[in-house]
Amino acid sequence: MNHFKYRGNKLFFENVSLEEVADTFGTPCYVYSRAAIEENFNAFDEAFGDYPHKICYAVKANSNLAILEVLKRIGSGYDIVSGGELDRVLACGGSASNVVFSGVGKSKLEIENAIKAGVRTICIESEQELDRVNSIAISLGLVASVAFRINPDVDAGTHPYIATGLRENKFGIPTEDALNLFRKAQQMNGVVVNGIGCHIGSQIHQMEPFCDAVERILDLVDRLKDMNIPLRDLDLGGGVGIQYENEQTIKPDHYVNQILTILKRRNCSLTVTLEPGRAIVGNAGILLTKVEYLKSSSSKNFVIVDAAMNDLLRPALYDAWHRVIEVCVNKNDNLRNCDVVGPVCETGDFIAKDRKLRVNQGDVLAIQSAGAYGFSMSSNYNTRPRSPEVMVDESSVHLIRDRETISSLFSNEHGLP
Ligand code: LLP
Repeated sequence: MNHFKYRGNKLFFENVSLEEVADTFGTPCYVYSRAAIEENFNAFDEAFGDYPHKICYAVKANSNLAILEVLKRIGSGYDIVSGGELDRVLACGGSASNVVFSGVGKSKLEIENAIKAGVRTICIESEQELDRVNSIAISLGLVASVAFRINPDVDAGTHPYIATGLRENKFGIPTEDALNLFRKAQQMNGVVVNGIGCHIGSQIHQMEPFCDAVERILDLVDRLKDMNIPLRDLDLGGGVGIQYENEQTIKPDHYVNQILTILKRRNCSLTVTLEPGRAIVGNAGILLTKVEYLKSSSSKNFVIVDAAMNDLLRPALYDAWHRVIEVCVNKNDNLRNCDVVGPVCETGDFIAKDRKLRVNQGDVLAIQSAGAYGFSMSSNYNTRPRSPEVMVDESSVHLIRDRETISSLFSNEHGLP
């Protein structure tokens, strides 16, 4: 379903005029659609039919409590990577029993709190981590439910900063070490190994790397069967890409069907966990920004807007492409080729390059596909308060995060005595 449409010359997100949102909440401002989030989640969930599964939304993509709650109401679990994200899940009323805890560098305190809270799975990424989880669980008099995250050594064909499944990446346990670690864990009193999994990267557009990874993990599952080591869960991570520009995307139902076909052929009936983040919230959110100035040099037209790399880091960090559209189109204006840039004092502070826009000073623009890794990667660089976030729910608009104030930025800093 298309969640954006022009009525006359004004852009609507669901039934809400984005010009009015900008007037009410100011700019820059993140805007999300509840309907789009739910539609994206349901597309994964429903594709499984009766096959046992858990969709654990990757909280890092967008961790606003209202989003976590919307997802909880439709049955989502959560993939977390920090103690802070666990607290967010609990704060929105989510259950730890639906949480998988990923990440290569979990601290003692994070592990202790996760075991006490009773998370479904701690994904182990190294032998030292296994030892640490085991000894913490024993000291608490508890048994931690763990899974091994394997590095299957496949090339996800994505930006090198977000590829995680290659041997040279820091993630996962090398395949050749896995069986020994399973054996070792069997002798431990503080852990029970319930699962095996992988996460090969993000913004992936081809099925091949996903399928290769599954086959490799299933090879290990077969070996474990021979060793009489039973498992419950097969965690395939996240990574399904979305369309920012004109990329071919994998539809969630196609992705799930392909995976289920492999599982059937390989006679596997483990519960499948998926950890999609971007595919659930990416295209369900935009960033509204206002044009402060137009400026031209002999070689460029610049549209200087009030959103910057501190609000949306993806273009600066990954050279990522986000569509930029006018919230109110004035057909009488000329189309100009321009770079959309922010106020931060770095040349890397750009939102979009070489775009054709009809813009004047004071116009509002919508930066699309900004729901994932937008607000969650934002910062206060240049002492810029972070944007508010609002959620559109049919015809209503709800403020789900206030705009930060300068005084809130100062509140935890202290001068010398
Ligand atoms: N599970 C694990 C263990 C992960 O590390 C990630 C993402 C996900 C699931 C969710 O992946 P997704 O379905 O969203 O692709 N900041 C980057 C993306 C970093 C992804 C990190 N890990 C960006 O803006 O493109």
